[in-house]
Amino acid sequence: MTPHEEANRRRWDELAPLHFRSAFYDVDGFKAGKSTLHSLEIEEVGDVTGKTLLHLQCHFGLDTLSWARRGARVVGVDASSEAIELARSLAGEVGLPAGFLCARVQDLPALPELTPGGFDVVFTSYGVLCWLPDLRPWARTIVHFLKPDGIFYIVESHPFTDVFADAAGETDLRLAYPYFPGPAPLTEEVPGSYADRTAVVANRTSHVWIHSLGEVVTVLTEAGLRPEFLHEHTCTVFQRFPWMKQEPTAGGACRNRSVRRYRCCFRCVRAGNDRPAGEPAMGFQDNLKKYRVAKECSQADAALAAACPLGPTPTGSAASVSRRWRRCGNSPRPSA
Ligand SMILES: C[S@@+](CC[C@H](N)C(=O)[O-])C[C@H]1O[C@@H](n2cnc3c(N)ncnc32)[C@H](O)[C@@H]1O
Repeated sequence: MTPHEEANRRRWDELAPLHFRSAFYDVDGFKAGKSTLHSLEIEEVGDVTGKTLLHLQCHFGLDTLSWARRGARVVGVDASSEAIELARSLAGEVGLPAGFLCARVQDLPALPELTPGGFDVVFTSYGVLCWLPDLRPWARTIVHFLKPDGIFYIVESHPFTDVFADAAGETDLRLAYPYFPGPAPLTEEVPGSYADRTAVVANRTSHVWIHSLGEVVTVLTEAGLRPEFLHEHTCTVFQRFPWMKQEPTAGGACRNRSVRRYRCCFRCVRAGNDRPAGEPAMGFQDNLKKYRVAKECSQADAALAAACPLGPTPTGSAASVSRRWRRCGNSPRPSA
C-alpha cells in the first residue's frame, strides 16, 4: 500500500464508525427493514434471488446487506478494517447471512478466500473509483471473479461533476479541478465528510485519483467486459455540492435526490458471451452500434424531471434526464 493509500485508509477507518452513527446512513432505518439501494440499481441489476454477488468497496455493508435482503448470497469487500468489523456485527444483529472481507480490491485475486469465477454479479457504487490509483488491477479483479455469464454493474458519481468546487460556502458551479488525470493524485484537507459536513475528523488528508469516463469504459472493455449500457443521469443520491437542494423522492426508493442531479451507471457482461459462434469479437464502437435508445427515461426520472424547480428537461436534448440502451439486433443508434 502506498503512503497515499495508507493515509486514505486511516481516514476511512475513522469515518466508518462516524458514518455508522450518522443520519445520512440511517442505520436504524436499515435495522427496521429499509433498503439502502435505490430503484435505479435494483431495476438495472435485475433479480438477484439465489445469485452470488460480490460487492467491492462495500464500506460498512448497508448496500451489501440490502442485496442479501433481496435474496442474493453476498460477499462484501473493503480496505477499511473498521468498516468490515461494523459490517460483520450489523449482519449478525439483523440476522442476514453475508461474508465480509477486509482487503484492497486490487489484492483480491491473490487471496485464497474467494473462488475465481464464482460470482453472478460484481457490484460497486457511489464514491468508489477516486480511491483507486490505477483502474487496471480493479478491472482485472472484476473479471477474475465473474462467472462467464455474470454481470458487472457500477453506479458512480459522474466524473464530469468532479471538475467543480464542492467545499462548504460554494454557491454555484465553479470550475476548480481538471477532468483528466495528472501524474499525482489530488491531495486536499477535507473537514468533516460527505455524510456529515460538520463532523470533527482528525484524519483530514484525502488523496484522490481522477478517472475520466473514457478511461473507465476503456479499462473495463480491455479487461474483457462488453458494455450493455452506459446511462448518464442528471441526478445524484446525496448533496454533492453545498448549494444543491433536496427534491421530493419519486417512487419512494431514492434518498436525497437533488435539484441538479448527476450520476452515471454502467453495466457490462464478459465479452463474447452473446456472440454467435464464428462471429468475430467486436470493438467498443461496434458494440455501441448494436444498441439503440429504447426509452428516454424511467418513470421515476420523468416524475423527478417534471417536479424539478428548474423545469422539466426537454427530451432528446444533450441534457436528457436518462438514456437507456438495450440490445436491439444490429440496428444503428438513431440520432437523438
Ligand atoms: C465512499 S465509500 C463507498 C460508499 C458506499 N457506496 C456506501 O455508500 O456505503 C468508499 C469505500 O471504499 C473503500 N476503499 C477505498 N480504497 C479501497 C481499495 N483499494 N480496496 C477496497 N476498498 C477501498 C473505503 O474504505 C470506503 O469504505
